[in-house]
Amino acid sequence: MKYHDEYRTVFVSITRIVYNAENMLSTFYRIECNFLYGKTEFVSNAASTNSVIHKKPRGKRGKMLQHKGTNSIETLRLLLRRFEKSDAKDMFHNWAGDPEVCKYLSWGPHKNIGVTQIRIDSWRNQYNYEDTYVWAIELKSIHQPIGSISVEISDDKAKTCEIGYCLSRPYWNQGIMTEALRTVMRYLFYEIGYEKIIAKHDVLNPASGMVMQKAGMKFEKVLYQVSRRRDGTLCDCAVYAKNIWED
Ligand SMILES: CC(C)(COP(=O)(O)OP(=O)(O)OC[C@H]1O[C@@H](n2cnc3c(N)ncnc32)[C@H](O)[C@@H]1OP(=O)(O)O)[C@@H](O)C(=O)NCCC(=O)NCCS
Repeated sequence: MKYHDEYRTVFVSITRIVYNAENMLSTFYRIECNFLYGKTEFVSNAASTNSVIHKKPRGKRGKMLQHKGTNSIETLRLLLRRFEKSDAKDMFHNWAGDPEVCKYLSWGPHKNIGVTQIRIDSWRNQYNYEDTYVWAIELKSIHQPIGSISVEISDDKAKTCEIGYCLSRPYWNQGIMTEALRTVMRYLFYEIGYEKIIAKHDVLNPASGMVMQKAGMKFEKVLYQVSRRRDGTLCDCAVYAKNIWED
C-alpha cells in the first residue's frame, strides 16, 4: 500500500511538471507569434468582420493539421480575403486577362469576364471545404483585388504544401507579393500546422524566385524539363522551401 501511494505521488508530480511545461511552451508560442505577426490579424469568416480572433498558434510538431479554410488576414497594405462573386470584373482587368501576367503560368489569359467568373465560382464552391486556401489580394487603398495567392497542392500527412501566386502588372516590384507570401506562410505554419511550405518557379521568371527568397524561403534544387510551357518549350523549375523551425 505504501509503495502504491509513493508511485501515485511521483506520477502526479510528473504529470504536473509536464502540464506546466506544456503551458509554458504554448505561452512562448503565443509571444513569438504576436512578435512575428505584428500588425497582422486573422479574422474568421464565420464571425463578423469586426470581431478579430487572435488564436493560439497550433503548429506544434506531432499534431494533425487543423484546417480552418480561407480566413481573412490583414496586413499593412493588404486585405487577404475570400473571392467574392463581384470580383470577376476586377480580376479579369487587373490580371487574369493580361498575357504578360500569365506568361509563365500553366493557364493562359482569360478570353473574357465569363471565363473569370467561372473560375471564381469554382473557388467559391471550394470554400465549402476547410482545406481550401485561395485568397484574393485586395489593396486596401483602392479596395480592389489585384492578385491571388493560394495553396495549390497539400500533403496533409507530410504537413507540406505548395503555394502559387500572381499579381496585376502595375503593382509589380513594390514588395506586395512578398508581403502576401510572408503573411500566408505564417498563417499556414502557426494556424494550420504545416511544417514545410514549397514554391516553384520557371527559371525564366526570376522575379518570382526573388519573392520566395525575400519571404525567407531557401533554394532547394532545379527540376530540369519538368513541364511544358504553353509555347511548347520545356520548362526548368526552381524549387524553394521553408520549414517552420526556420521561421
Ligand atoms: C512574380 C510576381 C508575383 C512578383 O510580385 P511582386 O509584388 O512584384 O514581387 P516583389 O515586389 O515582392 O518582389 C519582386 C522582386 O523581384 C525583383 N525582380 C523583378 N524583375 C526581376 C528580374 N527580371 N530579375 C531578377 N529580379 C527581378 C524585384 O526587383 C524585386 O526585388 P527587390 O524588392 O529586391 O527589388 C509578379 O511579378 C507576378 O505576378 N508575375 C506574373 C505571375 C507569376 O509569375 N507568378 C509566379 C508564378 S511562379
